[in-house]
Parts: sequence; C-alpha cells; structure tokens
Amino acid sequence: MNFHIETERFILREFRETDVDDLFEMDSDPEVHRYLGNQPLKSKDQVFEYIGAVQQQYKDFGIGRWIVEDMKTKECLGWSGLKYETSHIDQSKYYDLGYRLKRKHWGKGIATETSEAALDFGFHCLHIKKICGVAHVDNIASNHVLQKLGFTQTKDFLYEQEPCHWYELDRKF
Ligand SMILES: CC(C)(COP(=O)(O)OP(=O)(O)OC[C@H]1O[C@@H](n2cnc3c(N)ncnc32)[C@H](O)[C@@H]1OP(=O)(O)O)[C@@H](O)C(=O)NCCC(=O)NCCS
Repeated sequence: MNFHIETERFILREFRETDVDDLFEMDSDPEVHRYLGNQPLKSKDQVFEYIGAVQQQYKDFGIGRWIVEDMKTKECLGWSGLKYETSHIDQSKYYDLGYRLKRKHWGKGIATETSEAALDFGFHCLHIKKICGVAHVDNIASNHVLQKLGFTQTKDFLYEQEPCHWYELDRKF
C-alpha cells in the first residue's frame, strides 16, 4: 500500500526497509523513549521487525503510522499518524494518533503539522468517527500537541504501571 500525503513542509509516506538507519537513530535514543517505557532499541533487527509490523498493519487495516520525510532534504525524521489499535489499553478497538521523531527535530512543530494531516485523512478519507490519543502525564510535549489539536482529555489510567492521560477527538461533520 502506497501512501503519499503532502503537508507544507513534509511528505507522509509508507515505511520502507531503507528507513532502518534513521529509525534506529531515533529509537536507540533513551531520551526518545523516556515516556515510552524506557526501552530504547538495541539492534537494527528490532527496527526491521517494527517496519514489517507496520507494513502488515497497512495490509490488515488499510492504515498504520507514516514516515515523516522532509520535503526538501528527503531525510526520514521519524513517524507520525494513525494506528488501528487492537491492544488492551481500551476495551474496544480504536484509532490512535501517535508521533515519534528524532530528538534533533523536536520543537519545530512537526508533530502538530503531520498530525493535522493524519486527522484530516482519518476523518475524511477513512470516515473514522472518533480518534484517540494517549500520553504519559509527564510528557509535556505530547500532551500539548494533543491539546493544540483539539483533543479532550476524558480519563486517566495506568499503562504498564505508568500514569497516562487518555484523549478523544470526534469528527465534526
Ligand atoms: C512528542 C514529540 C513527537 C513532539 O514533537 P514536536 O514536533 O516537537 O511537537 P510540536 O513542535 O508540534 O509541539 C510541541 C509543543 O509542546 C511544547 N513543549 C515541548 N516541550 C515543552 C516543555 N518542556 N514545556 C512546555 N512546553 C513544551 C512546544 O513548545 C510545542 O508547543 P507550541 O507549538 O505551542 O510552542 C517529540 O517530543 C518526540 O518525538 N518525543 C519522543 C516520543 C514521544 O514521546 N512520543 C509521544 C508518545 S505519547
């Protein structure tokens, strides 16, 4: 499945095996994993496994996270977008908005800009009625992105013993 969505500064596209070095740079960084259970990746094999899992989600559900590519430099900056979540976080299955970027690219509005495109795609192309988001209570940047995008915090819960906020956003029309 080939995705190609353009925002002002970025191309959002499917995961490819050639992204492995950039994704390893991101996911081996302990700071990136600070609020994600503190388990940075140790090998590129783990990244290949993750790439394969996302590609399988495209086939199974017609959606999965997208690579964020810089439109000018073509660098892979990380990932952003929707995932059809079938885990145990909530009792029902749901669409989750998420983002993860190489540390050197934080603070440039990338998560916000790419999430706006993902929400638009989810609500208007996939016709999803509700999109959810989860952030560790101490993850200021992630909580702020979800709030800026208009999500409402509806509950708090523990995920793997860590306190998290649960957010929801309904389609407007
Ligand atoms: C979460 C993450 C994707 C945010 O990406 P980003 O592109 O830097 O986010 P944006 O620039 O779009 O927005 C971040 C907002 O939080 C604010 N922010 C970030 N850190 C902050 C802090 N310590 N205190 C106050 N505000 C902070 C920024 O100022 C910005 O708000 P603004 O646009 O009103 O100024 C990035 O930090 C990341 O990859 N973190 C590691 C992975 C992760 O935690 N993912 C989320 C899991 S729930």
